[in-house]
Parts: sequence; C-alpha cells; structure tokens
Amino acid sequence: MNAQKTAFSGIQPTAIPTLGNYLGALRNYVALSGTHRCFYSIVDMHAITVRQDPETLRRRVRELYALLLACGPNPDNTVLYVQSHVPAHAELCWILNNFTMFGELSRMTQFKDKSAKHADNINAGLFTYPVLQAADILLYGAHVVPIGDDQKQHLELSRDVAVRFNGVYGDVFVVPEPLIPKLGGRIMSLADPSRKMDKSDPNPAGYISMLDDRDVIIKKCKKAVTDSGAEVRYDPAEKPGVANLMTIYAICTGKEPEQVEREFAGQGYGAFKTAVGEAADGVLSPIRAKALELIQDPAHLDRLMAEGAARAEAVALPVLRKVRDSVGFLPRI
Ligand code: TYM
Repeated sequence: MNAQKTAFSGIQPTAIPTLGNYLGALRNYVALSGTHRCFYSIVDMHAITVRQDPETLRRRVRELYALLLACGPNPDNTVLYVQSHVPAHAELCWILNNFTMFGELSRMTQFKDKSAKHADNINAGLFTYPVLQAADILLYGAHVVPIGDDQKQHLELSRDVAVRFNGVYGDVFVVPEPLIPKLGGRIMSLADPSRKMDKSDPNPAGYISMLDDRDVIIKKCKKAVTDSGAEVRYDPAEKPGVANLMTIYAICTGKEPEQVEREFAGQGYGAFKTAVGEAADGVLSPIRAKALELIQDPAHLDRLMAEGAARAEAVALPVLRKVRDSVGFLPRI
C-alpha cells in the first residue's frame, strides 16, 4: 500500500446489504480504494447489540465478506476484515468510554430508534455503540469515512471524542471527515418513501437485497409506492417515491436527475419503474454473480479474513500503544 491518506468504514452483518447500502456507502468504498489506503470492517461486535442467532451471524459474516470482495475494491489498497478478529477495537472502546459523555450518547437518534424497536433489550452495548464506532475509525488514523447520511451523527461524535482526547494528550488521533454522496446518501424504502431503505426491514418489499435476482428486483421496483400522478419529475418533497426511484436510476446509469426527467417525459410510471429495476440489476448482477461464486468456498474466505485481520492489527496496534501510553498505562515488559 503506498497511498498516503487512509479511509475506514464499517458495515453490520445483520442481514444481506441492500441497494441503499451499496449506493450510499459500498460504492464509495470501491472508489476510495483507487486513491486511499482502505480498511473496511464487518462489524460483528456492533451487530450483537441486538440479539443474533449465532449460526446465522457466522453465515452472514462470510456472505458479507464475499459481497464486499465482489464489489471489487482495489486489493492492493484494501484490507477487509472482521471486527471481532482484532481485539484492539474493544480495548480502545473502553478507553474512549471515559472520554464520551452520557448526555452525548443519550442524544444519538439511532440509540433512540433502536431502543424503541427493542424495548425489551435496551442494553449498555446499544448505548455505547457509537463509542465502539469511534474506536473503529480512530484506531486506523482514518482521514475519511465513506458512509450514508444516517451515520452522520455518529461520525460527528467520533470527531468530538477525537478532539477531546487530543485536547488532553496532544495530537494522538486523526480527526476524520465523513464522505456522504450528494445523490444516494439516503435511499428510501420502496414500500414507504418516508423511511430509509433498511436491510433489517421486516417487509422485503421495502428493499432490494444485493443478492435479489433480476426478476425480484424488477418486481419490487414495479410495486414501489409512488404518488397518484403520472409525471416522472424530481421533487423529493412532493413526490418522494418517484424522486427515490429517479435517484436509484440516475446513479445506476451515471446520469443526472434532470436527464432522467427528460428521458421519461410523457411516459407513465410503468415503463419508468421497469427501467429502474433493469438499471439496478445491471449494477448488482456482476457483484451478485461474483459473491455467489465466492460463497461456495468458505475455507478460502476464512483464509482471506485471517490475512485481513493480521494486516489490520499491524496498523491498529501502534495506535493503541500510543493511546495506552497517553493515558498513563504502565507498559508490560
Ligand atoms: P450499516 O450496517 O447500517 O450500514 C452500512 C452503510 O450503509 C449506509 N446506509 C445507507 N446509505 C444510503 N441509503 C440507505 N438507505 C442506507 N442504509 C444504510 C450506512 O450509512 C453505512 O455507511 N454504525 C454503522 C456501522 C459502523 C461504521 C463504523 C460505519 C460501525 N463502525 C465505523 C463507519 C465507520 C452501521 O450500522 O452501518
């Protein structure tokens, strides 16, 4: 790796990622791997803040690893690894807990949302989830963090924690910047365009999974909730369903929303929705094919994961050592 700047991001292995994850984040994982030293982590430690079935979690981690590889980041610049394989994340999280305020964590909207959804299991891990996320990022000295819009608040917190720590001990951490796409930072549910597309949505009509096949993708797009009009016009406030489909189509075909408007002027929603499904499948089908092939060989994936963890740890440990030293831990000789 000879890139100068570092990128870091994480994704939870709670379900197969969606087209929203791809357009909001994974696409930028790949783009950054052309210019940056990249660390992308499957954050299984974050995933257990909500109860997971152990067998399913193991399967999901391998599937997600295969999918991330299949997206095609430049292998020379990219380290793909599983968070729990690098215990330094947990250790730095503990230290950073002492630099994060109760009030700050109480204001996190994801905590409030998840507490409402899992009212029977509002555990401490769910509360300190953003501290682990800060540890993930700061451990690699990341300059840039490719994320969707929903992670903006967590990134702000990571920055605040880094600045606070640096204020006490000097320049230990790089203060990271978010990279959120202008178009596609928040892809909405196909079933309810007022909510974001979510891989954990109990209603599969709301999302396109990255492993859905062509027929399913087109069917879901055809059924997508739109307004009662017939005009393909980019107006997120008045026509959120159509604007969302236009965003998907625009990114998948490399066009601007205005071009899309012109392309479908005078045509109804029917032809447009089919075209959206075809465009989404055009982007996802090569990734899907590659991922399904990789999933066939779990031993190979496990070897790659082990290599990734070793490369990640080699970068994380010196940072952790510096932090331990800063706070005054006596080194073990
Ligand atoms: P997660 O697993 O929910 O989502 C992974 C990435 O996908 C983005 N995303 C979306 N982008 C556009 N439209 C959507 N509908 C959409 N849904 C999700 C997310 O913003 C995210 O970038 N807390 C993180 C995981 C994490 C992390 C980190 C991220 C842990 N440590 C460190 C960055 C840096 C999460 O739950 O992402």
